[in-house]
Amino acid sequence: MGKEILFHMEDASSVRPHELDYLEPAITRVHKLIHSRKGPGGEFAGWVDLPLNYDREEFNRIKETARKIRETSEVFIVIGVGGSYLGARSALELLQHSFYNQLPANKRKGPEIYFAGFNISPAYLTHLLDITREKELTLNVISKSGTTLEPALSFRVFRDLLEKRYGKKGARERIVATTDKSKGALKKLADEEGYTTFTVPEDIGGRYSVLTAVGLLPISVGGIDIDEIMKGAAVGHQLYGRESLAENACYQYAATRNILYRKGKVIELLATYDPAFLYFSEWWKQLFGESEGKDGKGIFPASASFTRDLHSLGQLIQDGCRNLFSTTLWIESPAVDKEIDKLEEDIDGLDYLAGKSFHFVNNKACRGVMAAHASGGVPSLKITVPEQTPFYYGQMVYFFEKACAASAYLLGVNPFDQPGVEAYKKKMFSLLAKP
Ligand code: PA5
Repeated sequence: MGKEILFHMEDASSVRPHELDYLEPAITRVHKLIHSRKGPGGEFAGWVDLPLNYDREEFNRIKETARKIRETSEVFIVIGVGGSYLGARSALELLQHSFYNQLPANKRKGPEIYFAGFNISPAYLTHLLDITREKELTLNVISKSGTTLEPALSFRVFRDLLEKRYGKKGARERIVATTDKSKGALKKLADEEGYTTFTVPEDIGGRYSVLTAVGLLPISVGGIDIDEIMKGAAVGHQLYGRESLAENACYQYAATRNILYRKGKVIELLATYDPAFLYFSEWWKQLFGESEGKDGKGIFPASASFTRDLHSLGQLIQDGCRNLFSTTLWIESPAVDKEIDKLEEDIDGLDYLAGKSFHFVNNKACRGVMAAHASGGVPSLKITVPEQTPFYYGQMVYFFEKACAASAYLLGVNPFDQPGVEAYKKKMFSLLAKP
C-alpha cells in the first residue's frame, strides 16, 4: 500500500484531544451519511466509490483518445470553467515540468496544453488565438451542464477557427466533448456533429469530477500515467474509508478544522511550498468553498504560495486579525531536488548551506513558518504527502474530496449543491437581455 498521507497539528494547544473525542459520534454519523449516500445531496456521491467502480471501457477509450491527440496535435486546448478545468490543470501543473509548454516538442510527452473558457477576457482569448494560429490543434470542450456561458463563448470562437482551418469534417475529428450523457446544449451539438464524446457521470458534480473523463483526458494527453492516479485514489478509498477518527487522517483534518471554525477561525490558509501547487490550491479552494459556503456558514478557503507570499502576506498572517488557521500541504519527497554547490570563494556568505539541497532549505523554511505561526496565534495544521507522483496525486484528491464532504456534513450543509452560483448568472443574463 506504500506510505500514507499524514495529518498533524503543530501546536497541540489549539485543539485539545478531548475536543476531538467529543466529535467522535458526529464523525461516525458523517461517515455513515457519506457511505450510505443518504445524506443531503447523496445523489451526487458517485465519487465515493469511483476509484473502485469507474467505467473501465471508458477509461481505455480515454487513454486511446489521448494517444491519438498526442500524435496529431501540437496544441491541445481544454475549454471549461470551475470543476470542469481546475482538476486537470492542478494535476498537469503538479506533475509536469514547470515550463512544460516551453520545452522543445521532443522533450515533451504531448502537445502544448492551454486552458480557455474560464473567463470572459477578450485579451486572454485573442492572445491564445495568436499563439495557436500556426499549429495543429485539438479541443476538449468540457461542460457538465453544457450551458455555461464562459466555456460556450470560447468554444464558439475555437470551433469556428477549426472549421475554417480544417473544414467541417476535419474540425469534427479535432473536437472532443465531455458533457452530460443526455442533456444540455453541448450534448445536442456533439450528437449532431458526431464529436468524440465522454460522459460526466450523473452522480458526480463538477468539483468532484477530476477522476472522471473531465480530468483524466487532459491529464492523459499531458503524458501522465492515469492508471497510477486511479491506483492512488483506490488506496485513498481504503485508507480514508476507515470509520474510526483515530485511524483516519482525513476525518482528523475535517474534525480539527470544524473545531477551529467554532472558535472563530473562519479563514483557512492552504500553504504550499512549490509553485507547482498553485492550481492544486485553486482546485482545493473551489472544492471547499463551493461545498461548505452556504446557509450563512463556511470557512473561507484562501491559499498562499510560500516562501513567495511570506514576502507579501507574511506580516498579516503572523500579526494581523486572529481569525485564521493555516494548513500546510507538504511534499516529503519532491519530483526534483537540487544540491547547493560550494563556491571557491564564499562571496555571498551562503557556503554554510553548501552540500545541502534546496528541498532541505525549503523544509526548514516550512518548519520555521509553522512554528512562528503557531506562536503568533495561528493554529497550524500539516498534511504531509509522501511523494510528488501520479499515485499520490490520486490519493491526495481522494483525501480532500472525502475531507470536504465530511467537513460540510459536520457543518450541517449539503456538500454537493451550489445554489449561490446561480445568483450572478441570473443578474448577468438579465443585463445581457438573454431571450
Ligand atoms: O462544481 C461545480 O459544479 C461547478 O463549479 C461547475 O464545475 C462549473 O460551474 C462548470 O459547470 P459546467 O461543467 O456545467 O459548465
